[in-house]
Amino acid sequence: MDRASFVRRLPKADLHVHVEGSLEPEMMFELALRNGIQLPYDSVAEVRAAYEFRDLQAFLDIYYQGAAVLVTEADFHDLMLAYLERARADGVRRAEIFFDPQTHTARGIGFPVFMHGFLRAIAEAEVRWGISVGLILSFLRHAPPHEALATWEASAPFRDRLLGVGLDSSEVGNPPELFVDVFRAAREAGLHVVAHAGEEGPAAYITGALDTLGAERIDHGVRSEDDPAVVERLVREQIPLTMCPLSNVKLKVFDRIEEHSLKRLLDLGVMVTVNSDDPAYFGGYILDNYLAVADGLGLDDDDLARLARNSIEASFLSPDAKAALLHEIDQVVELAAQGQPSPEG
Ligand code: ADE
Ligand code: ZN
Repeated sequence: MDRASFVRRLPKADLHVHVEGSLEPEMMFELALRNGIQLPYDSVAEVRAAYEFRDLQAFLDIYYQGAAVLVTEADFHDLMLAYLERARADGVRRAEIFFDPQTHTARGIGFPVFMHGFLRAIAEAEVRWGISVGLILSFLRHAPPHEALATWEASAPFRDRLLGVGLDSSEVGNPPELFVDVFRAAREAGLHVVAHAGEEGPAAYITGALDTLGAERIDHGVRSEDDPAVVERLVREQIPLTMCPLSNVKLKVFDRIEEHSLKRLLDLGVMVTVNSDDPAYFGGYILDNYLAVADGLGLDDDDLARLARNSIEASFLSPDAKAALLHEIDQVVELAAQGQPSPEG
C-alpha cells in the first residue's frame, strides 16, 4: 500500500481547522458574484498568487478580507459542507472546527445566519458521510476582551450546539491572560476550552493558556521547544498540541518543513497531532499535512499511525467513540503490515 493510501485509510480527527480558512478561491469568486461583492482580484490564479505570507499578520489581513464574501446562511452552509466533503475524502472521521463569530458580527451578520448555515451542513454531512463534527467558537485576541464577552453573550441561543471555545488571531502582544473572564464563563457553562499559543508567541503563552484559561489542548504550541520546562509539562500532563505543519511553513514560523519541531516533540513523548488550520490558504488539507511531515521529517508508518491515534485520543469524543476509532486504526495498521488493503478497499 502506498503511503498516501495508508494515511488516507487511517481514521483521523482534524482538531485544528478554521472553517473560514477553508474558503477556496473558486468559492470566494462564486460567493462574491452571488452577493454582488467586488473582490480586489481578477482571477482565481491572481488570488492564489497573493497567498505568499511574510508572517501570521500578513495572512490574517488577507483571510479576514476573504471572509467578507460570506453573507447569507447559504454561504456558510456551502462553506462548511465543502470542507466536510473534502476532509472526509482524506479519511477524517471527526472534525472539531473553529469559527470566528466576530469576523461576521462586525459586518452586521448575526449568530442565527452563520449558525443555521453551519448546523444544516453538519447535519447533512453526518447523515451522508458518517463524519462526526463539533463546533468551537473562537474569540479574536486582537479585539478587546469586552468584545469577546459580548460575543459569548450573543452565542447564548446556540450554547448547546457548541463543543468548546478557542482563542485565535494575532498572537504576539495579546497574551491569554486578557481573556480569563470569558474563558471562565465558558468553562462554567460546561464547554471545552482550547487556545492558540506558541505559534509566533513565546512559550510563556502556552503556560498562560493552561494556567489562566484552563486550556485542555494547545493549538500549534510549536514554540514550546524554546522552554524545556514547558515541554516537560506537556509530556507529564499529556496535553495535546494541535500542530499544522504546512501553515507553519507558509507563515514562516519555520523556514522549511525539515526544521519543524513535530518529530522532535513526538520523540520526547509530547501528544502531538497533525491538522489543517487554513487549508485553502496554506496549500493542503490534512492528508497533505501528514505527507509533508512524513517526507520532510522522515516519519515511518508507526509514527503516522501514532499521529492518527493521538488525534483520536486528543479529540473531545466519548470514550466509546474513541475506542471504536482506535480499533479501526489497529486494523488498518495490521492489514498494511500484511501488505493487504483495508476492507474499505
Ligand atoms: N486564524 C486563522 N488561522 C489562524 C492561525 N494560524 N493563527 C492564529 N489565528 C488564526
Ligand atoms: Zn489556527
